[in-house]
Amino acid sequence: MIALQQALWSGRFSAGMDDSTLAFTSSLDVDSHLAFYDVMGSLAHVRMLKKCGVIPAEDADKIIAGLKDILVKVRDGSFEFDYSLEDVHTCIEFSLTQAIGPAGGKLHTGRSRNDQVATDFRMYLRDDALRAAEAVNGLMMALVKVAEDNGDAVMPGFTHMQHAQPVTLAQHMLAHAFKFSRDADRFLDAFRRMDKCPLGAAALAGTTYPIDRRMTAEALAFREPTENSMDSVSDRDFVTELAYCAAQTAIHLSGLCEELVLWSSQEFGFIEMDDRYTTGSSIMPQKKNPDIAELVRGKTGSVVGALMTMITMTKGLPLTYNRDLQEDKRPVMESMATVIASAQMMSKVIATTVFHKDRMLEVTSRGQINATDLADYLVTKGVPFREAHGIVGAAVRHSIDSGRNLEDMTLDELRQFSDRIEQDVYDILPVIKCVERRNSYGGTSPQSTDVQISKAIEQIMLRDEVIRQESQLIRNCWKALTE
Ligand code: ARG
Repeated sequence: MIALQQALWSGRFSAGMDDSTLAFTSSLDVDSHLAFYDVMGSLAHVRMLKKCGVIPAEDADKIIAGLKDILVKVRDGSFEFDYSLEDVHTCIEFSLTQAIGPAGGKLHTGRSRNDQVATDFRMYLRDDALRAAEAVNGLMMALVKVAEDNGDAVMPGFTHMQHAQPVTLAQHMLAHAFKFSRDADRFLDAFRRMDKCPLGAAALAGTTYPIDRRMTAEALAFREPTENSMDSVSDRDFVTELAYCAAQTAIHLSGLCEELVLWSSQEFGFIEMDDRYTTGSSIMPQKKNPDIAELVRGKTGSVVGALMTMITMTKGLPLTYNRDLQEDKRPVMESMATVIASAQMMSKVIATTVFHKDRMLEVTSRGQINATDLADYLVTKGVPFREAHGIVGAAVRHSIDSGRNLEDMTLDELRQFSDRIEQDVYDILPVIKCVERRNSYGGTSPQSTDVQISKAIEQIMLRDEVIRQESQLIRNCWKALTE
C-alpha cells in the first residue's frame, strides 16, 4: 500500500514512509469531495498546455480523453480512491497515468498541488456560496410571504423580552427577512472576491513555462487570474470569509429559531408548526416539539466553531504554503452544508406555520404597551417629553394597581395625572391605532410594511437573477471543458 505514494516521489528518500505517517497526513477522506473540481481544473490546465505548446498536442489529447473517463466515474460515484495515496490530486493524476501511460506524467507541468488545491477549493466554495445565497434567499421569501399573508396581526414588540410597543407580525417577520437579505448578499460578495483563479501560481513563484493563466481562469469560469503567485498559494481568507458568512447566517437563524420555540410554547401560543416539521415525545403523548428550530439553533455552535478554526489556524503562518492549510476543508465544508440545509428547512417550517392572530392581539392588549403613545400624545399637547414620561409612569402604576389597561380608564381618572389629557386620547390608545400611526419610514404601520415588502421582493428577485446567471456561467464552462 504505502509503497505507492513513496514510489511516486521516491527520488529523494532512502527509507519508506511509515504507515502512520500516511494515515496522519492523508487528506483524502475530506478532499475526495473536490474530485469533480480537480478534474475540471486539470482539463482546463491541459488544454492550456496544449494551446501554448508546452506539451505535445498528441499527449494532451490522450490526457484529455483519460480525464474525461475519470470524470464519468467521479460523477457516477464509481471512481475508486486509492487510500495508499495522500490526496485527491495525487489519486487522480495516478489513476490517469495508469490508464494512459507515461503521457499522464505531463499533466503536472507548470503547476503544483499548492495552486491546484487553492483552485479546487475556490471552485467548490464558489458553488457553495451560490447555493447558500439561494437557500437564504428562499428563507427570506418565506418570511416575506408571512408578512404579506398574515402581516396585519398585531403583536407585542419586545425589548429585554418585555412588552415594549405594539408592532405588526409583518414588521417582525420583515426584520428577520432583511437580516437574511444581508446574509445572502454577503455570500455573493464573498463569491465575487473568491472569483479569481490561482492556477498557474505553481508551487509559489510562478513557472518558467510559457503558460496562459488568463486562458485557464476563463475556462474555469473565474473572472481573472489572481495577481500574485505567493499570495495565491498561501491565502485562505476566501475560506475564512465564507466561514464568517455562514456563522453570521447561523447566528441570525438561531435568533429566529429561538423565537419560534418560544412562540410555539403554551405560554405564548402565537403559532402552531405543521405536523410535518415537528416531532413527538416518546413518553408524553400530548407533545409537539419544535425540534427543527432547536436543532438549527444548536448547530450554530459548530458553524461558529468553523470560523474560529479558520481564524486560529491561519494566524502567524509565514509565506507561502504550509501544510497547516490542509486543515481548512472539513470545518468549512461542514459549516456551509449545515447552513444551507438549515435555511432550506427553516423555509419549509416558516411556510407551513399557522399564526394565531387572535392570541397575539389578546396578549398585546393586556399590558400597558401603549404607554409611549400616551407620552407622545402629551407631547403633542405641549408637555416636554421628559415630563410626559413621568406623568405616564404614574398613570401606568395606577393602571397596574387597578388591573385595567390605560384605554379602559375614564377621562377623569386619566386627568388626575395631567389636565392636558382630553377626550381625543381614546383615539390614540387602542393598540391598532398605535401601530397605524407609526408611519415613519421603516416603521411598523401597514403603509410602511407594504413599502418594505416591495423592497424585499425586489432584493430577492435581483439576487435570484445574479445567482441564476453565475450558476449558468459555471455550468457553461463545465460543458465546454468536457466537450
Ligand atoms: N492536501 C494538500 C492540501 O489540502 C494539498 C497540497 C499539498 N501540497 C504540499 N506541498 N504538500 O493542502
